[in-house]
Amino acid sequence: MTSHPPAAQPVTDWDGFDFDTRQVHAGEYPDKNIGLRVPPIALSAGYVFDDFDDQADRFAGRSVDPIYSRQGNPTNTVAEERLASLEGGTASVAVSSGQAAISSALFALAQHGDHIVSTASIYGGTRILFGRSFRRFGIEFDYVWDAGDDAEWERAIRPSTRAIYTETIPNPRNDVTDLRRIAEVAARHDLPLVVDNTVGTPALIRPFEHGANIVVHSTTKFLTGHGTAVGGAVVDGGNFDWEAAERAGRSFPLVTASPRPGLGSMLDRFGTGAYARAVREAVVNDIGPSLSPFNGFLLHQGMETLSLRMERHVDSSLAIAAWLEAQPEVVSVDYAGLPSNSLHVVALRDYAGRTGSVFGVTVRGGIDGARAFVNGLRVFSRMTGIGDTRSMVIHPLSSTHATFAPEINERLGIAPGLLRLSVGLESVNDLIRDLRTALDRVAEL
Ligand SMILES: Cc1ncc(COP(=O)(O)O)c(C=O)c1O
Repeated sequence: MTSHPPAAQPVTDWDGFDFDTRQVHAGEYPDKNIGLRVPPIALSAGYVFDDFDDQADRFAGRSVDPIYSRQGNPTNTVAEERLASLEGGTASVAVSSGQAAISSALFALAQHGDHIVSTASIYGGTRILFGRSFRRFGIEFDYVWDAGDDAEWERAIRPSTRAIYTETIPNPRNDVTDLRRIAEVAARHDLPLVVDNTVGTPALIRPFEHGANIVVHSTTKFLTGHGTAVGGAVVDGGNFDWEAAERAGRSFPLVTASPRPGLGSMLDRFGTGAYARAVREAVVNDIGPSLSPFNGFLLHQGMETLSLRMERHVDSSLAIAAWLEAQPEVVSVDYAGLPSNSLHVVALRDYAGRTGSVFGVTVRGGIDGARAFVNGLRVFSRMTGIGDTRSMVIHPLSSTHATFAPEINERLGIAPGLLRLSVGLESVNDLIRDLRTALDRVAEL
């Protein structure tokens, strides 16, 4: 039996309630003025100070009341608290995109001269971000290709390493990550494990339960859910021992050092929410990738139906992946939820076999087969994007992975005939009919 808070209205503490209840309610706040049931969009760039001393206290960090919407906004706070609750973290920070979430999360950990180790199979845009902008700022990356190979991790990690980075369900290959294994490596080296859970979502997997310390999201995708608003979030697991890491020679000054005389460190002042506070105050407020409250509203509203949508997304994906595998025009299907997949054991153990709704299918005929297939689709939209109500298709080799060296794409398994599907919420029968029509085009080649 879980213990619930007293039934008196309004309930503001949703700890102990089930996921489906928290996705509807967590983070909402009682509106004492009008009695609005749905948290409104707070379109105000700034906040009024009570008096002279209140202003000084807020700027000096003696008060945590808000200063300006670049730092935080009540609409976004609803989304932040809801997401922190669903992920099982202590706090979260909403930002303007998934790329902003990844950048903000890592800028709070690493600085010029530092180094980060990432698994090799990650979103193409993230790999570009690491290889271009992070490199220009003097933060280097190394990639581990076989996350199960301890020796590869040991070779990659340096004294200057400040984080390990991975994703739950990388796309387009749906090659699910064995998070526990990577979390062990991270813990052994006193490094925070940062996990992009965009494709997994907390409805399917909660990385903190598998040893992650920080979760990032492109909320543009399943969390907002309807393809309407670009956004992102960083979630603090509150479970990383910053002091032990410092003792082991890994320094994280934004979390553990006093920002100015007379003011304690984030860790002293915010405890298990210190990292999230550092992201908010020392990165997002400085650099400025804040989320519009309008998009924050779409995000907290989108999350209300997350588990229901994910159920349909995954049911349809399982049916479609199994169907595709049996079609003569299909060379292979990359869906870890299929028993034939080499990662099915991890899929069963960590995902109950339900590995999301973004996966790869390789058709016969290489690039010509891919072109015929894409052009033959009618219900699937030809577009970049995933995690929408609509089904989508893209050809990675000529889009998300177009700038990578051929040997990198070959190693990542990005074949000329590979298409990435994001299965939406349409009728699964219509989707299969659409795919069949497109495969007919492949058969005609
Ligand atoms: C796994 C993953 N992380 C991050 C991003 C970047 O998110 P955004 O487009 O919101 O910047 C994407 C975008 O496709 C993604 O798929």
